[in-house]
Amino acid sequence: MDAVRRTRLRAADPAGVAEAARLLRAGQLVGLPTETVYGLAAHAFDADAVLAVFDAKERPRFDPLIVHVLGADALAQVVDERRLSPAARRQTEALTRLWPGPLTLVLPKAAEVPELVTSGLDTVAVRAPAHDAARAVLRALGAPFVAPSANRFGRISPTRAAHVVEELDGRVPLVLDGGASEHGVESTIVGVEEDGTLRLLRPGATPRGAVEDIAGARLEAPRARGPRRGPGMLASHYAPRIPLVLETGQRDGPVAWLLFGSPTRDDWARYGVPVAVERLGDDDRRAARELFAALRRLDDSGASWILAELPTSRGGLGPAIRDRLTRAAADRDPSMT
Ligand code: TXA
Ligand code: MG
Repeated sequence: MDAVRRTRLRAADPAGVAEAARLLRAGQLVGLPTETVYGLAAHAFDADAVLAVFDAKERPRFDPLIVHVLGADALAQVVDERRLSPAARRQTEALTRLWPGPLTLVLPKAAEVPELVTSGLDTVAVRAPAHDAARAVLRALGAPFVAPSANRFGRISPTRAAHVVEELDGRVPLVLDGGASEHGVESTIVGVEEDGTLRLLRPGATPRGAVEDIAGARLEAPRARGPRRGPGMLASHYAPRIPLVLETGQRDGPVAWLLFGSPTRDDWARYGVPVAVERLGDDDRRAARELFAALRRLDDSGASWILAELPTSRGGLGPAIRDRLTRAAADRDPSMT
């Protein structure tokens, strides 16, 4: 990793965007806002820059990255469209009607995409971000960028520019500040298979129902076996430094609570007085937006563990929030789910 002495934070205005594009063209990394979470961007066709992303994040090389493009017109740059069957092509055309937005599609990879981006898989994950600053950088760069979430591997994803600095200070020359992330959880990832079957590989900011409606098809579960499924699929991910325990777990020491509803009398009786409480509320869009920032605050609250409720909502963003909290609570061994 190139030694970067310090990380500069600047507004995602036209001058900031121009500098970001200049740095990316020169093979450097840039932290930037997207509508889901902040990303750590590198030029997608520059294998050395892509390698620097893995180094800065301390991310294992077997975890593939998402390529970001302006829209469906740019798909041919990264996807081998000749390998799309008519059924897969039809589904791809339907799903890209949700672009720009928080939906990532896994499709046959074009030869031009460096192997490192896809960890040797013959598929590539691609999405068109909706955030104005991310789009402006793509336009100024004139090429796709890769952008994993801008956190050190396994840690809580950043939803503010300041979180990126907390995670990667000194490892990236520039972070563009575009305000708080609109969705707060990562994109939904859908695999489009040869026969047109769609698989939900990661629940995320686009609700399952929105994908199924536009595709006119059900989303299937991921295959139980097959190629490595990547870091969003690791059992432990999105983790605070202190242990996070779901619902009925119990530990010793000062506790911090992450709740959706109000604490009940039983909660107080069972767990004692918390040193900090974050209440995300019942609106799942609002809860998703605040989730990662709330986890960071609890991590820094002086508590020695976090007791987290799971959201009750089964639709909308409920599944994405459940997924992130379940992984944040998982044992931190590197086994795959
Ligand atoms: O919202 C987002 O998608 C954010 C913003 C920054 O765009 N990015 C993001 O990237 O979440 P990252 O690196 O944190 O997550 C990448 C996910 C991993 O779970 C990985 O498994 C999956 O994408 N992925 C990438 N390529 C894949 C492939 N060829 N097949 C299956 N999954 C893939
Ligand atoms: Mg991530």
